[in-house]
Formats: sequence, structure tokens, C-alpha cells
Amino acid sequence: MIVLGIDTSCDDTSIAVYDGKTNRVLSNLVSSQHVFHAEFGGVVPEIAARKHIENIDTIFSEALKASEININEIDLVSATYAPGLLPALLVGLTFGKGLAFSLGTPFKGVHHIEAHILSPFIGRELKFPFISLVVSGGHTQIVVANSLGNYETIGKTLDDAVGESYDKVAKMLGLGYPGGPIIDKIHSEFKGELLSLPKPKVQGLNFSFSGLKTATRFLIEKGYPKEQIAASFQETAITYLIDKVKLAIKTTGIKTLSVSGGVSANSFLRKLLNQIENVEVIVPDIEYTSDNGAMVAFTGYRKFLLEGADELSLNAFARKSL
Ligand code: KG4
Ligand code: ZN
Repeated sequence: MIVLGIDTSCDDTSIAVYDGKTNRVLSNLVSSQHVFHAEFGGVVPEIAARKHIENIDTIFSEALKASEININEIDLVSATYAPGLLPALLVGLTFGKGLAFSLGTPFKGVHHIEAHILSPFIGRELKFPFISLVVSGGHTQIVVANSLGNYETIGKTLDDAVGESYDKVAKMLGLGYPGGPIIDKIHSEFKGELLSLPKPKVQGLNFSFSGLKTATRFLIEKGYPKEQIAASFQETAITYLIDKVKLAIKTTGIKTLSVSGGVSANSFLRKLLNQIENVEVIVPDIEYTSDNGAMVAFTGYRKFLLEGADELSLNAFARKSL
């Protein structure tokens, strides 16, 4: 079964062609809009939507071409319908539903977080149960994935998402957008002494990042060098994530951990995850860490087999729980 996966939930126009039978991604195209949002230090929803409209036809044609699949060979169209920036979501969802209607194929709407949760398993065997840490620009949560479609959120951020705080700290330091990869590089090259930043004191498996952001701002006001501040921020943010996943493993007794979302590309996070003993850690290939169509196709295919197609009246939702 050939599945098209579309994601326009934020600032990337992403379309992939996936073969469900062989569990292989045939093409995965992403058109990043980062340069258009950089001057604002974050994503502007209306600009994102307009750029999706401008790009989506071309990305679709390129994805088909790269996969060597003919448009009439598509068996299922899937697109992200929630959560995300509403004007942006609507572009991909409407495009996907229109395409399914014109081709006469079934359509499956995909929950963006479910797609991130399953993304480490693209091209691999999907086995349950596992603990999933989703760390992206919009989300920071720990979920127990019991089976396909059965997820229990056991921890989440009470304020900012970790990726968002990377972006905000990078903005305060004037480093550029998105902040994650820039700060990651600075941290890996930094040889000096790290400054101490307080780890947020939130009980249990929930997170908080706003205090860390404020403490980082104080360091900027005190005039410490940018590199030293950025490296210290990453050291604290990532070891904080590791403390929480270790607690989740201890609390649940589940020995498989998957980590996904844009921040799962972080080199320091990956290094520390590898050091956790007696736990199988599964992370996505780098191209599936940030938003991509492949994870939507992978999830859409499995959800379609489980519960059938969605009506074309399916709407987009800025917020929707798993
Ligand atoms: O999953 P994603 O592409 O979009 C959302 O659904 O939010 O995640 C984007 C986020 C951005 O905040 C970006 O700064 C962060 O992922 N990010 C990183 C790294 N690469 C991307 N954060 C830390 N280290 C990285 N290497
Ligand atoms: Zn995402």
C-alpha cells in the first residue's frame, strides 16, 4: 500500500511517500521556512500558512518524482489534522482531503504528537509497550505507549516546551533561529567552565522551563560570555530531561524508551541516553526528528489498518489531546 504523508502543522512543508508493505520511506521532502521566521525569533502563523500555500504543490510533485511513484499509485492519503498552528494545519489537511477526493482513495487524519511518538520506529519493527519522551518546539511530554492508539501522558511541561526555551534563549543571546542546533554546537565545542543554573523544582514527571529561561536571562544581564551561557543552559536543560526519563523508567518499570521530536536530534541528549543502563533506547534517524511527512504516512497507514478511514469532513484543531 502506497501512502502519502503530509505535515504543515508548523513552519515546515513536508510530504513523504511511504510503502506500508515493505515499511520503507520512498521519499521524504521538507521545505523549511526558517529564514522567513528568523527575524521574528519564532514562527508567525500567518506567514507559515502563506508559505505552505506557495510551496505545497511543488513539494508534492518533488516527493512523487523522488519516490518514482505515479500519482495514480497512491492508495491512501494521510495528513496532520492536530495539534499545531491552525492556519498552517488547514493548508496540508485541505490539500490532503482534496487529493484523496480527486483520486478516490481513503483519507486518514493524523495526530502530530502520535506521529512523533511513532517516528523512531519508521523502517523498524513497532513494538509496545514503551515510554516515549516527546521533545519539540511545541511539546515536552512523557507518554506510556501501551498499544497503537492507546497512550497515557504521565508527565508534561507546565509552561514552555524545551525546544521553545532553546529558541527563546537563543533569541535573548542574539544567536539566531531555530536555537536548538546553534546552542547544541556551542555546547559541544565549549571547553571552559560551566555556570550553575538551577534545575526547575517540579515534583514527579512534569516539567517546567520558564524558571530556567529567567535564570539564563540573569546570566546575560550579568555580562557572562554568550558561549558560556549557551553551553550552561544546554547542560542544565538536557540533564534535567535525563533525570525525568530515568524517573519515568523507575516509576513504570518499562525498559524500552523512545525519544522523538526536534530536540531528539540533540547530540548531548543522545550521548547521555546511550549511557542509561539496562534500557533499550530508540531514537529516530535525524531526518525524522523534526517535522516530516514520513512519520505522518507511517502513523496514518497503521491507524488506517486499525480503525479505517476518516470522513472528509474532518477538521483541523490547534489543540487536541492524544
Ligand atoms: O519537532 P519540531 O521540528 O517542531 C515542533 O513540532 O515543534 O521541533 C523543533 C524544535 C525547535 O525548537 C528547535 O530549536 C529544536 O527542535 N531543535 C533542537 C535541535 N534541533 C532542533 N533542540 C536542541 N538540540 C538540537 N540539536
Ligand atoms: Zn513536531
